[in-house]
Amino acid sequence: MSNNNWLYNATVVITGASGGLGKGIAMKLINDYNCKVIGIARNEEKMKQVVAELGSKSANFTYQLFDVAKEENWVEFKKYLEDNNIQPDVLINNAGILPKFNKFGNYTIDYIKFAMDINFYSAVYSMHHLMPMILKSRTPAIVNVASSAALCALAGTSVYTASKAALKGLTEAAREEYRGKCYIGLVCPGFTKTDIFSGQGEHAGTANKAIDMVSTACDSMVSKIVNGISHKRDLMVFGIDAKLMGGGNRLFAVQTSKLSSKVMEISKLPLFEETFKD
Ligand SMILES: NC(=O)c1ccc[n+]([C@@H]2O[C@H](COP(=O)([O-])OP(=O)(O)OC[C@H]3O[C@@H](n4cnc5c(N)ncnc54)[C@H](OP(=O)(O)O)[C@@H]3O)[C@@H](O)[C@H]2O)c1
Repeated sequence: MSNNNWLYNATVVITGASGGLGKGIAMKLINDYNCKVIGIARNEEKMKQVVAELGSKSANFTYQLFDVAKEENWVEFKKYLEDNNIQPDVLINNAGILPKFNKFGNYTIDYIKFAMDINFYSAVYSMHHLMPMILKSRTPAIVNVASSAALCALAGTSVYTASKAALKGLTEAAREEYRGKCYIGLVCPGFTKTDIFSGQGEHAGTANKAIDMVSTACDSMVSKIVNGISHKRDLMVFGIDAKLMGGGNRLFAVQTSKLSSKVMEISKLPLFEETFKD
């Protein structure tokens, strides 16, 4: 990979680095761009696995274990960076959860807040606390991983969609506020084969089968995302389903949501049962 690219040798903070897209992005940034990556997640066993898989490049990866949904953890992390004279160049907010598909009224208020804290407020906290440091970099950059759900709402995803639409709005406004001073990119991946569907509980198996039909392989999605970041793309919509949802929504907003949700309903998959139950 070209060592003329702005990403080369960059110090990158990425959340959700213990698995799925975050792990893939972290490893690709290290292997292809010689980045120094500080990964954030909670599960140490999975982090150790990342270190093991990096082999001779493992010195480029360090990790911090904390819950990104708690503001105080970001305050502490900022202090850790300062105390260790670490200048972050790039912040990638990737950690997220996919709540079980369900009707809005079936989610408790506590659960909605919990999901918003992880999917949206984590990025609010990280950007708020780390932005002053990032702006001191010679290559300042922030990349937020939203979802195709932010482009087109589907039945059963009210909470997820709200969290990702909020993240999209925050990212797009900040992108213009800091244009010329900091690259701020938004990623909207479509369905991708990762462990995110394990949150669907007893329906994880059928979730995976249904999702498998339309989803992108994790490695392929990771390559597209890293390539997009390396070209400082403002908006990265990847995956055929994401492109269809985004394009459809731009042309026929209500009809695209309605048709997609109808397909989910008539599929009779157990995954969507609660969503369409009276
Ligand atoms: N896969 C898809 O189809 C898809 C589609 C569109 C968008 N996305 C988005 O892409 C991002 C990555 O998803 P993925 O598919 O890679 O999911 P994944 O395989 O489930 O990985 C999620 C990562 O986030 C971390 N994480 C979750 N909650 C956390 C918390 N409270 N504090 C710290 N770390 C936390 C997990 O680590 P620990 O468990 O170790 O904490 C893990 O590293 C998410 O934002 C997701 O919404 C995914």
